[in-house]
This record gives sequence, C-alpha cells and structure tokens, in this order.
Amino acid sequence: MNGSTGTDTGANRIHIFDTTLRDGEQSPGISLNTAEKVEIAQQLARLGVDVIEAGFPITSPGDFEAVQKIAREVHGPIICGLARAQKGDIDAAWNAISDSERPRIHTFISTSDIHIEHQMRNTREDVKSGTRAAVAHAKSFCEDVEFSPMDATRADVEFTAEVCTIAVEEGATVVNIPDTVGYTTPEEYSKFFACLFEFAPSLGDVELSVHCHDDLGLAVANSYAGVLAGARQVECAINGIGERAGNCSLEEIAMLIRTREDAHGLSTGINTREIARTSRLVSRLTGYVIQPNKAIVGRNAFAHESGIHQDGVLKERSTFEIMDATEVGLDSNQIVLGKHSGRHALKDALEQLGFVIDGNALNQAFKRFKAIADKKKQVTALDLEAIVSDEMRERVESHDLAWFEVEAGSKVEPKARVAVNMPSGQEQVGESGGDGPVDAIFSAIQSATGTDAELREYHVAAVTGGDDALGEVTVVLREPADDGRHRTASGQGVATDILEASARAYIRALSNLLDGAAISEAGSATADVASNLTGP
Ligand code: KIV
Ligand code: ZN
Repeated sequence: MNGSTGTDTGANRIHIFDTTLRDGEQSPGISLNTAEKVEIAQQLARLGVDVIEAGFPITSPGDFEAVQKIAREVHGPIICGLARAQKGDIDAAWNAISDSERPRIHTFISTSDIHIEHQMRNTREDVKSGTRAAVAHAKSFCEDVEFSPMDATRADVEFTAEVCTIAVEEGATVVNIPDTVGYTTPEEYSKFFACLFEFAPSLGDVELSVHCHDDLGLAVANSYAGVLAGARQVECAINGIGERAGNCSLEEIAMLIRTREDAHGLSTGINTREIARTSRLVSRLTGYVIQPNKAIVGRNAFAHESGIHQDGVLKERSTFEIMDATEVGLDSNQIVLGKHSGRHALKDALEQLGFVIDGNALNQAFKRFKAIADKKKQVTALDLEAIVSDEMRERVESHDLAWFEVEAGSKVEPKARVAVNMPSGQEQVGESGGDGPVDAIFSAIQSATGTDAELREYHVAAVTGGDDALGEVTVVLREPADDGRHRTASGQGVATDILEASARAYIRALSNLLDGAAISEAGSATADVASNLTGP
C-alpha cells in the first residue's frame, strides 16, 4: 500500500479516520454548534487521529462554517470534507477545507443496484461517468482525494471494482469500501476485499479504507476483517456514534489493534491515554450517555464485581484483565486538589490535564473551584475537567444564571424563582410553578426571558462516584425556524446541586438557540441532500 495521504505509510501502520463530526453528528438528536465541533476536533488532534472528517459542507451554512473553522484552527491531522459526487458539493467541500495545512476531499456515490435504481434513479453508466467527473473535479483542487462507493457491500463486486478503478485513474489517493447499512459479515467483507484486489489491481497503488456501520453489532469485527484483508485506514467515531446503530467505535478498534498486536503486528498513532477524556467530551457535548458496560470507556469496563475476579486481579492483574485502565486514561480520577489548594495548584493541575488557561479565565475557574471545593471533600481530575469545560462555555454565552430559589417537597406545590443576567446587563426575574422542581425552574427561566422553546431532552449524570459527586446536566431545546424546519441547541451545566446544574444547562441551551449557535434539526439537512442523490 503506498497511499499519498502524507500520513505515516509504514506497511503495518493503520490510519485512524475519525468521523465523529460527520457521520457521528448525523445521529438523531445530536446538535453540536461550531464552538463545540472545534473543541472536539482539537481533542481529536490531541488523541492523535490521522484524519478528521469535519463535516458535510454543502448541507448547511452552519456545517460549512464549522468545517472551515476546524480547517483553519486544528493542526496535525488531515482535515476532510464530505461531498456527493456532484460539482456543487465538491466546490463547497473545497471552499471549506482549503485553508487546512492538510486538506482532503471525500466524495461518494452508490454502486449498489438498490441505490442506483431506487434512490438515485439512474444507471450504472451514470455512476461510472459521475465518478470520473467527480474525482477529476476534486483532484483539480486537492491532491488528497478519497472516493467511496456507497453501499458497496450490497453491490456487485465486479461493478464496484470497475468504478473504483475509474476513481484511481482520476487520481483518488484513498478508496473506502463502506458497509453503509451494517449488513456484511467479517468473512464476506474480507472476501469482498480479495475480489476487489483481483478485479481492480490498481487498488494496490492506493490506500484502502473500511467504513462499517453497527446495525448487526459487527462494525468493529468487520473493520478488523477489512484491515486483515489489506485496508490501512479505518473510519470510526468516538463512542461509536453515527447513523442509526452507529459506526465502528474508535476506542474499540484502536485498543483491539494495540492489545492484540501479537496477533497481527499492526499499530495506530493513537495516544490511547487520551481515549477516556475524548469519550467523556463527546458524551458531554452530544448528550449521548455511555452505557456502563461499553467496552473500553464504560464505567464498568475495568470494574470487577465477582469475588473470584477481584481476588484474582489482586493477586495478579492479568488473571482477569487484558488491558490496564491507565492505558486508556481511565485513571484520571485520583484526587488532585483539596479545599485549601491555591490558584497555582489549580493552574498546575489543569496543565497536567492539558488545559492551559490564564488571566480572567483562570480567575473564573478558581472561583468555581473554590465554590465546589467548599461543598465537596475532594476535587478530582474529572471534576476539574467538568468545571473547566463548563466555564469555557459560560464565557461565550449571552445569558447566564444570576441566582435561583426553589420550593419543593412531597407536600408542597413546586415553585421556582430564577434570575437571569440578560445580554443588556439587566437582571430579569421569572417565577413559575411546575410538575416538579426542575420543570418549575425551566418555566421560571422561560418567564424571565420571554421564551417558550420546547424541551427535547434532559439528562443528568454524576461526574464521579460518591455522595458528593458533581452533577452534570444536558438540556436540548428546539424551536420552529423560519424555513419551516426546527432549530435545536444543547447546553450543559455542572454543579454539586443538580437543580443548579439544570438551570445552568437550560440557560446555556437557550443562549445557543438565541445567539444563532443552534443548528437546523440534526440530520434533516443531510437527509434533504441525501434524498436528492442524483449523481453529478
Ligand atoms: O455509510 C456510508 O456509506 C457513508 C459514506 C458517505 C462513506 O457514510
Ligand atoms: Zn456511514
């Protein structure tokens, strides 16, 4: 495999192509704004991914803006923009990524008859000519061009090979073989690669890639089979998020490659110590909670419940553990600061966690730290991470929580009064009853701000264990937009008191909605584009 992607091309090196911000962002209910996407992209760069698929720029001005900002501000990985095999899409993708030090255009068209006949309503000949025109057009802008025959695993392999050959002739540097609907099995996928190499020998000159969906729970197994069959790029997403059942999970494939190097001799460039933190960030910003038994990053992934296992691990870790929690950064919950720690200690601890903050931001973080340290016995790295990302968001928001009071209990009607600092600098107070204290707080905020957005989602999670744990709340709000669609925005809040965290999260989501940081309903713009897949 040579592949001219500019990434490490050692024969055993697997390139990690992260699509959290593109395929992952197409998950139902996810609404990341530009600032959040940039924050995730910066963390993906720290994690050491080779490629960041930052978005699908033609789908909306918001998506375009986010991809462009990532292309300008995130250094290290290749920054990739997705485009159908159509001139307008490719132009938009190029305009969005052209400022990156390492741009890539990823263009796709389906090769399965099901898609050709029923979705695109054209012919195999159209697909061939469309591929030729699209790759040539992308190549006129950008040296690095990836081509995907969508729904390849349900397509005729000979025809797919013919289309891939055209893409290579026009200069594609990477050819990705998507299992778009999560239908294939490891054996079939492996055979598909073998047949492709046979029918399209020029594929030996470019990098092959896998892109597997998890509809049958096989995304990681299929990706691994593809790698063993010769692919050297894996497309995956943090926490496995993505369309429907999601994509191959980045943390699982990365740890599979690392842990079983003895079996295959392959490696990635992932800094595995950043895995847990990246997973938490994505979970926090998307509101997608990680199931406790999720491999690698679940709360229980390294926990031992049975006495026999605990006893074994105490005697010798390898009796029941194949990986060490420290390898994936899950050990960051050691106590780092106490009640009496000063500003310097906080700054040092934050630097150890990878946050470099100074001046006013440090003062604000210190104020929050002190308030929390007064209530909690010990402040851990996880608490600091939550406080700092909370503070960072607060600084850019137009509205914030001044104070609140709640009356609640099993014998009283819940009632809340909430004061919101408005963009004018004025403090506005609202008062309301509700079904419960959280509902009363949200209604009081609506009354203070004169808004009536619909509450779409509400999640509460504990940042750490223990009865004094910080509570982290995610709120997703939605309101009708002028174009007949809906706009959604999310906000997070962290506090020792979940009522306060709820108020903060709601006001943040509202700020995002009112400040234009909301996005058109997740997936709808992409669906509009996808329903019009007519080829170039
Ligand atoms: O699943 C899929 O086929 C895709 C393509 C755009 C690569 O996401
Ligand atoms: Zn996909």
